[in-house]
Amino acid sequence: MSKDAHKALIAGPATGPLSGSIMPPGDKSISHRAIMLGSLANGVTEISGFLPGEDNLATMRIFEHMGVTPEWLNTAKTRLNIHGVGLHGLKPPSGVLDAGNSGTCARLILGILAGQAFTSELTGDASLCTRPMQRVADPVRRMGADVHGRNNGNLLPLSIRGGDLKGIHHVSRVASAQVKSCVLLAGLYATGETRVSEPAPSRDHTERMLPLFGQRVHMDDGSISLAPADLLTAPECIIQIPADPSSAAFFGVAASLVEGSSIGLRGIGINPRRDGWRRILGAMGAAISQDNESCAGEEPVADISVRYGVMNGIRVNPDDIPDAIDEFPVLFVAAALSEGAFILEGAKELRVKESDRIATMVQALSVCGVHIRASPDGVRIDGCRQIRGGVVVDARNDHRIAMAMAVAAQRATDDIIIQHAAAIATSFPDFVPLAQRLGMNVRWAR
Ligand code: S3P
Repeated sequence: MSKDAHKALIAGPATGPLSGSIMPPGDKSISHRAIMLGSLANGVTEISGFLPGEDNLATMRIFEHMGVTPEWLNTAKTRLNIHGVGLHGLKPPSGVLDAGNSGTCARLILGILAGQAFTSELTGDASLCTRPMQRVADPVRRMGADVHGRNNGNLLPLSIRGGDLKGIHHVSRVASAQVKSCVLLAGLYATGETRVSEPAPSRDHTERMLPLFGQRVHMDDGSISLAPADLLTAPECIIQIPADPSSAAFFGVAASLVEGSSIGLRGIGINPRRDGWRRILGAMGAAISQDNESCAGEEPVADISVRYGVMNGIRVNPDDIPDAIDEFPVLFVAAALSEGAFILEGAKELRVKESDRIATMVQALSVCGVHIRASPDGVRIDGCRQIRGGVVVDARNDHRIAMAMAVAAQRATDDIIIQHAAAIATSFPDFVPLAQRLGMNVRWAR
């Protein structure tokens, strides 16, 4: 682990209302998919609004190892051209492919590696090497790939010998876009139809983007299917990536919690499969509105305004869980500072994210005096007016925990030190300057 991994944030309390208007960085999920499909296409794919976070750069590096060259068009690395090598043009990598901290990178790329006529090795950082891979290794094995690794191939590093896949109907036990996308990407290389069914709809960025590359995808009765691809063709138009709703949510919650605040968040993705955070926060009583609705490619976007409001705890609607799966750390912070009880059940996937997000948030908020109790698949939080400051909490190298606790600190009695926060760079390298621009009290410790 690098020395940087211990980097701490110091946050809160807010010195006044939050105000101003910002555009958060590009969507992480969509940035991964743009690189992957651009790399496998014939022709040049132009991307703008790309997120240059560590997770997406790990994905780019993996394709560079297999012969794809990105052409960066600005120093901020938000615009690039990908010179695709075609579906069958990837080269065998000379070394181990490293997905870093990114589950999306590892699981989606496993689907692509399963279709290659060569053997590759895939690994990740200490956190990723503890996260379950069986959910993707099993279906690609059934399609014909050989996947080996510790714990019966459930844990990275994995060795993957691909090629000669056949289409399957995969019935996933979890509502997971990573599983669905892995199988669909492998399906591009399979003979016959590949179909995925899931217990509840998960984010659909892969299905929305594939047709831009000329690949038809069918959706019927809750399942998604595709036929093998002859080729993918780089789109004629630029792939415009919306601002990430998962990053916007931190500021949305902060504005709802700090008295007198009113902020604008521009160009945010409002895909219904990512919009659970607004439905949950709205049900709690937050004052949220939207205007300037438009589209970025196949993705809906809008400008979102959030004002301070007095909020109440709720019992979370189970249908909203997959649509807000990454936003629960910061929604727990909203709950901690709302009136009454907030109850979440049926969210055990939170235990296998970049950290066990139920355990990590229970530990961090408890240190701040919040009444929060874990269950195997959720939490109960009894809200309070203010949380305890003058404490040290541990983000356990989980980006979303670090940013959520920086939001919590805005309503603390004193500064909170958030240790192991450097992972913010995986999804939101400019979190601190943008938060400061809106008036949040947060800085990196020296
Ligand atoms: C993602 C899917 C979700 C989400 C992750 C990104 C994606 O994971 O939590 O941050 O881009 O497909 P699961 O598929 O495990 O739910």
